[in-house]
Amino acid sequence: MSLSDYRSALVTGASSGIGAALVRALTERGIETYALARRRDRLEALASETGCIPLVLDLRDKSAIDRASDGLDVDILINNAGHGRSEGPLHQADINAVYDMIQTNVTSVLHLVRAISPGLVARRRGHIIMIGSVGGLHPIKASVYGATKGAIHMLCQNLRIELVGSGVRVTEICPGRVRTEFFEHAFGVNQGRELTSGFTLLEPEDIAATAMHALDAPQRVNITTVEMTPTEQAVGGLQIAESGSS
Ligand SMILES: NC(=O)c1ccc[n+]([C@@H]2O[C@H](COP(=O)([O-])OP(=O)(O)OC[C@H]3O[C@@H](n4cnc5c(N)ncnc54)[C@H](OP(=O)(O)O)[C@@H]3O)[C@@H](O)[C@H]2O)c1
Repeated sequence: MSLSDYRSALVTGASSGIGAALVRALTERGIETYALARRRDRLEALASETGCIPLVLDLRDKSAIDRASDGLDVDILINNAGHGRSEGPLHQADINAVYDMIQTNVTSVLHLVRAISPGLVARRRGHIIMIGSVGGLHPIKASVYGATKGAIHMLCQNLRIELVGSGVRVTEICPGRVRTEFFEHAFGVNQGRELTSGFTLLEPEDIAATAMHALDAPQRVNITTVEMTPTEQAVGGLQIAESGSS
C-alpha cells in the first residue's frame, strides 16, 4: 500500500499553515480530503480552491469529534492542529491556557486516533501522520508546548508497537520553525514577527512534501520520525544564568 492505494484523508488544523498545504498536496493527488478546523470561512475558501470537504469543529469538544468521526472511513489521518499559547513559563502560566494546549495538542489527538484507527486496522490499510515538533525531541524554553509535543513523540513510538502487523503505518514529522501564523497566535503579532524574521524559515509546503514522501513510500517502508529544520536554524545549546543571579 502507498499513496496510490489510499483514497481518503482527514487533516486537522487545515484552515492555515501546514494543514492547508497538506490539503492542497493530497487533493492534487486525487485523495478525497476532509479538512478540519474552527474557522469556517478559511475552510470554505480552501474547499473552493481544492475540492476538499470542510469539517468545522473545535477539537477541544470530544462529542463534536465523535459526531464528525462516526462512520468516517478514511485511509490517512493527519493530526496537525496545534498551538503554542501557554502564556509564559509554567511557573507564571494561566492554568486554563495550559489545559487548552493539552486538550488541543494531545487529548484531541488521542480521541481521533481512537476513533479512526479501528477502521484502518480492520481494512489493513492506513497511515497516521502526526505533526510533532523539534520541541518534542529537544529541550526548549516553552515547557508545556514541549511536553505536549513530547507526548506526541512517545505516542507515535508506542502506536507503532501496538499496530505492528496490522499494515498501518505511523509517521511523526518534527519541524523547526515554519512560516505560518503559529507564532503570531502564540506570542502576538509583534513578537511573532520577531521570531520569524531575519532568517529563512521552512515553508508549509516543505512539511507537506515530506508527508507525501512518507505516504508515497512502498508498503514495506515506514518512515517513522523525521526531524527537519531550516538550514539557518540549529536546535540545542546551553542556558547559563549570570553569576550571582540565583
Ligand atoms: N510553525 C512552526 O514553526 C511549527 C513548528 C513545529 C511544529 N508546528 C506544529 O505544526 C502544526 C500546525 O501549525 P502551523 O504552524 O501550521 O500553525 P497555524 O497556521 O497557526 O495552524 C494551526 C491550525 O490548528 C488549528 N486549530 C487550533 N486549535 C484548534 C482547535 N481547538 N480545534 C480545531 N482546530 C484547531 C487552526 O485552525 P482554527 O484556528 O481555524 O481552528 C489552524 O488550522 C501545529 O501542531 C504546530 O504545533 C509548527
